[in-house]
Amino acid sequence: MDRFRLAAPLLGLLDPETAHDLTLWALRRGLGPKNRAPDDPVLAVSIWGRNFANPIGLAAGFDKNAAVIGPMLDLGFGFVEVGSVTPRPQAGNPRPRVFRLGADRAVINRMGFPGQGLAAAAKNLSAWRSRSRPGPVGVNLGKNKDALDAAADYAAGARGLSALADYLVINVSSPNTPGLRALQGRKELETLIASVRAARDEACPQGGPPLLVKIAPDLNDAERADIAELAVAQGLEGLIVGNTTLQRPESLRGRHRTEAGGLSGQALFELSTAVLADMYRLTGGRVPLIGVGGIGNADQAYAKIRAGASLVQLYSALAYEGPGLIARIRTGLAERLRADGFAKVAEAVGADHR
Ligand SMILES: Cc1cc2nc3c(=O)[nH]c(=O)nc-3n(C[C@H](O)[C@H](O)[C@H](O)COP(=O)(O)O)c2cc1C
Repeated sequence: MDRFRLAAPLLGLLDPETAHDLTLWALRRGLGPKNRAPDDPVLAVSIWGRNFANPIGLAAGFDKNAAVIGPMLDLGFGFVEVGSVTPRPQAGNPRPRVFRLGADRAVINRMGFPGQGLAAAAKNLSAWRSRSRPGPVGVNLGKNKDALDAAADYAAGARGLSALADYLVINVSSPNTPGLRALQGRKELETLIASVRAARDEACPQGGPPLLVKIAPDLNDAERADIAELAVAQGLEGLIVGNTTLQRPESLRGRHRTEAGGLSGQALFELSTAVLADMYRLTGGRVPLIGVGGIGNADQAYAKIRAGASLVQLYSALAYEGPGLIARIRTGLAERLRADGFAKVAEAVGADHR
């Protein structure tokens, strides 16, 4: 029985955040669908000493408190990124703060990092780790809205969560926390990376998880070049390209298109893939990239890989396509790789640049 097909009409009538809360509730109770069919070996990715059975991950924001890692891996994701986690619990912006643009298969959100905070996420993650189920889990770090010292907030996240993470993300690209995106400036980012690395190394003296930075798709050419240069110079382990956009393409039709917040889903695909390709070119393919933004089918996942992504992620399309989407992308991606003569994902990464 495809529970999503039964539940979709009802979930679609609800406010999107209520639908999301209900989905999390059902997932926590084991009511989610399962698709743990073994992955086609052509989909395997090995990076940072970690093995991914397939390159399709759940993007940050869905599982902010690390409460449903197992159920999401059971849908067939190759990895899950939890967060953004802020050091202290906070409520986020007033509701409503998530809007569906059905006609555009897009979403606008201005959540503002609501969450239960670092201690709760750490508790959930350790419980998950103690059950030792497979599947890499990334931890995305944010800062509290009222934090006076941003670097101290990210460092606190790294200190508390490094030992539980397969990779760590400095998220400086959400548009809904005032001042956050300014941390993408060269100087600010340099300071941030140094303090997070120090905290990570203190927490994991034997060697901690790789550190990635998640950037906005709205950076201009000079800002992109700065970040690429910094990433190469500092030996940053990866970049996630990228977060939601503040842009509103002319093509948008959904009645909520003028709501404030970050736009995601189909309307973000072209922009985020162009920025991804640019970051691949600017870094000379030397910094692993995670491509995210508007993926809703196998062609789009494949396009991100060819543009330079070693791994991909999605979130918004789940609301429109349902959980069966992951199995469809896995099958379709394996077919496309084989058809083009690639024996593994790594061979296709950046293929459009050659
Ligand atoms: C409701 C919602 C909440 C999100 N929360 C976060 C977050 O806490 N941290 C983060 O780095 N990205 C967050 N994102 C951004 C996604 O991780 C992703 O970068 C973006 O939605 C583009 O991917 P998509 O088009 O597949 O949704 C959120 C997105 C949505 C729709």
